[in-house]
Amino acid sequence: MIGRLNHVAIAVPDLAAAVAQYRDTLGARVSAPDALPEHGVTVVFVTLANTKIELLEPLGAGSPIANFLERNPAGGVHHLCYEVDDIIAARDQLEAGGAHVLGDGEPKLGAHGKPVIFLHPKDFCGTLIELEQA
Ligand code: CO
Repeated sequence: MIGRLNHVAIAVPDLAAAVAQYRDTLGARVSAPDALPEHGVTVVFVTLANTKIELLEPLGAGSPIANFLERNPAGGVHHLCYEVDDIIAARDQLEAGGAHVLGDGEPKLGAHGKPVIFLHPKDFCGTLIELEQA
């Protein structure tokens, strides 16, 4: 079902500092920040040869990554994003198998303007998984 690793997301308390690390210290290509109020985050993408790193900073009250950063004040790996060919078919198959889709189960438009869903970490080795329509 799953295809390529689309990105690894890292929640950070200070996006400017994280950008400086990836761009200046690690020498990576880094996008401009993109505020996504409907997701409660500001995102920057680091483009690598084989995948991307998504740096996430909380945006606004009730950000979905606020609790994570309370538990991990220095930041940390927040989720992995895998591509799927058909997100509705993938969701239906996973739900039928007992997996828990977060929210109302309906895909939302993610940071790349493509439909995404999130799967509860308890079902997948303690790791939050994002599925993105390829
Ligand atoms: Co993501």
